[in-house]
Amino acid sequence: MNHAYKEPLIVQEVAPRDGLQIEKQWLETEDKVALIDGLSACGFTRIEAGSFVSPKAIPALRDGDAVFNGIRREKGVIYVALVPNVKGAERALAAHADELNLVMSASQTHNRANMRMSCEASLAGFGDVVRLVQRAGSTVSLNATVATAFGCPFEGRIDEDRVVSIARAYREMGIDGITLADTTGMANPRQVARLVARVLDDMPATHLTLHFHNTRGLGLANVLAAYEAGARRFDAALGGLGGCPFAPGASGNICTEDLVNMCEEMGIPTGVDLQKLIALSRTLPALVGHDVPGQVAKAGRNCDLHPVPDYVRAI
Ligand code: COA
Ligand code: ZN
Repeated sequence: MNHAYKEPLIVQEVAPRDGLQIEKQWLETEDKVALIDGLSACGFTRIEAGSFVSPKAIPALRDGDAVFNGIRREKGVIYVALVPNVKGAERALAAHADELNLVMSASQTHNRANMRMSCEASLAGFGDVVRLVQRAGSTVSLNATVATAFGCPFEGRIDEDRVVSIARAYREMGIDGITLADTTGMANPRQVARLVARVLDDMPATHLTLHFHNTRGLGLANVLAAYEAGARRFDAALGGLGGCPFAPGASGNICTEDLVNMCEEMGIPTGVDLQKLIALSRTLPALVGHDVPGQVAKAGRNCDLHPVPDYVRAI
């Protein structure tokens, strides 16, 4: 029996941001707000509710300001906004986001594809965002993501020393929270365990988030490897929606209800209401206009038993 399995696993729900950013069909602001309000009632402590990026880059989330202004703020829930630059930070502060999530890729090529700038230019912009927040006297918290931290669809392997030093650079800038993101599902459990252990030498687990995509079917295996290496916070998207439109072959985040179900079966506390989550996930196909990859919403929980057929009773 591994006693570490009693330690809570914090799920940060990212469907309203990572999930919806790649959707082709426009979702009305009120539908986004209703989805976030539904998620707020499921017991999450953190929800990434949208992004404040160029509307040309991500048209699906161009109404971030209206979404943040429309949602019901559940007590105890941190509503996070993804931002790429100072303009995004200004919009997110005006919309009263509780936390800003800055994003840069470890891969220069993916950063150019996604953010249309070099990593150096992204980092300089993050410095400007930190100063903006300090000048404003804002209580907003700061997180920064190392995207493509486990592999890049253009460059392939990513040097682990580079990932560790980017995380260190973020923290030296005054950004407390770090996310290591596997943008296109290239991570494997051994690599994850190694990198998590290295990053946790420099920072507390309370400020580290792991962000996995299930592109190659290793999402939950990677979660367990990270958890066993000491990580405690994980991004996941309802229904397994998600993906970066600027990463070829990208597909969904790990699925929230699949993750929560695994945790429940293993006795790992998450604080998330699985039944409510499954009910909400089952509304997604009608909302986004297609089937979604999550499995537990289709299969039901282990305890959702089926009636015994008459022919079996007769035996
Ligand atoms: N919010 C709204 N508009 C923004 C913006 C922001 N955060 N940042 C820039 N813009 C606008 C500019 O005002 C300008 O508008 P205009 O054409 O009407 O004058 C236009 O976008 C281009 O601005 P520029 O600074 O030249 O940006 P760019 O074209 O070099 O793109 C980014 C840089 C970072 C803004 C863009 O690549 C981006 O938003 N990327 C995010 C992609 C993303 O969200 N990926 C998935 C999540 S990881
Ligand atoms: Zn992602």
